[in-house]
Amino acid sequence: MSSPAMQKTTLAVGQPMVQVEDLVVRFPIRSGGRRAWITPVDHVNFTIGRGEVLALVGESGSGKTTIGKALMRIVEPSAGKIVVGGKDVSHIKGRSLADYREDAQMIFQDPFGSLNAVKTVEQHLYFPLKKHRQLRGDDLYIKAGELLELVGLTPVRETRIKFPNELSGGQRQRVAIARALAVDPKFLVADEPISMLDVSIRAGVLKLMNQLKDDFKLSYLYITHDLASARYFGDRIMVMYGGQIMETADSRELIRRPTHPYTKLLLAATPGNPIREKLPETSNLAPNLLEGRTGCVFASRCPLVTDRCREEMPKLTVLETGHSAACHYAS
Ligand SMILES: Nc1ncnc2c1ncn2[C@@H]1O[C@H](COP(=O)(O)OP(=O)(O)OP(=O)(O)O)[C@@H](O)[C@H]1O
Ligand SMILES: [Mg+2]
Repeated sequence: MSSPAMQKTTLAVGQPMVQVEDLVVRFPIRSGGRRAWITPVDHVNFTIGRGEVLALVGESGSGKTTIGKALMRIVEPSAGKIVVGGKDVSHIKGRSLADYREDAQMIFQDPFGSLNAVKTVEQHLYFPLKKHRQLRGDDLYIKAGELLELVGLTPVRETRIKFPNELSGGQRQRVAIARALAVDPKFLVADEPISMLDVSIRAGVLKLMNQLKDDFKLSYLYITHDLASARYFGDRIMVMYGGQIMETADSRELIRRPTHPYTKLLLAATPGNPIREKLPETSNLAPNLLEGRTGCVFASRCPLVTDRCREEMPKLTVLETGHSAACHYAS
């Protein structure tokens, strides 16, 4: 139950759950003793529909977590707009931001670091259930049990009084998921939620998130390095490099017909995904994120690079409905 002052999201018919327009996040850094800026999120646009999973894929340092944090409003956008559930949350503060935390929740990579070692499983759930849903007494106890049942942490009576160090990595991540669900969110950012888990239990956690999506019509931004899990869980995939979107398409389409050389490199590196056209890796330099860079951000690593790529930044261009790429030579 929400207090009267709280405003949960309300969506107009056909409106996406998440709309990101021209999002920019800049950070100050020291470069050669002088202050400079990096732009790990550089004019990014996307939408996520209700009950849709957008998988955000890219290698380390491409800006994935920064996008997730901007969406959660853990960092504030430097420019652009974030609209969630029809409400512009780009610069909200105070009470509005606290209310927004009922609509959007984040699941982090490290389920051990995100739980409190001196709190039991049920205590992790009591805090959000009291704060956001004003539950007390038996209602609180029952709701916490229901959440644990929902995420498969059974037998509930035994699990609820355990401490994080008595649980496996997969069980801890399930507690983190239950805690996120405690506020009845509409939208989840899951930042590499399975990458620190044992390979044998990754599929189970992904399956749980998929089930929750279907049961509660949840929208997800699913952040991952791994195209195979992006294809399994994502309805659409967005490939990022150096703070920019390289390519985006329906998951199956992107895997079947990648057009951007970076997507092709990623696919070639994915076990079990042999692609016809294997491109040679020309360098493993990290992308230049410094503000004011010119040309294509992928140019220094691209096997197909031309002079044009070094001078002119390609725009994200629609190739066909739902499939876009930012490459002068994508077709
Ligand atoms: N608060 C900050 N201040 C300065 N630079 C930052 C800050 N947060 C992130 N960065 C830089 O922004 C870039 C993108 O980081 P981000 O964590 O978003 O990448 P990522 O794609 O999530 O990488 P990974 O796959 O390793 O998690 C990196 O170069 C990082 O060092
Ligand atoms: Mg990250």
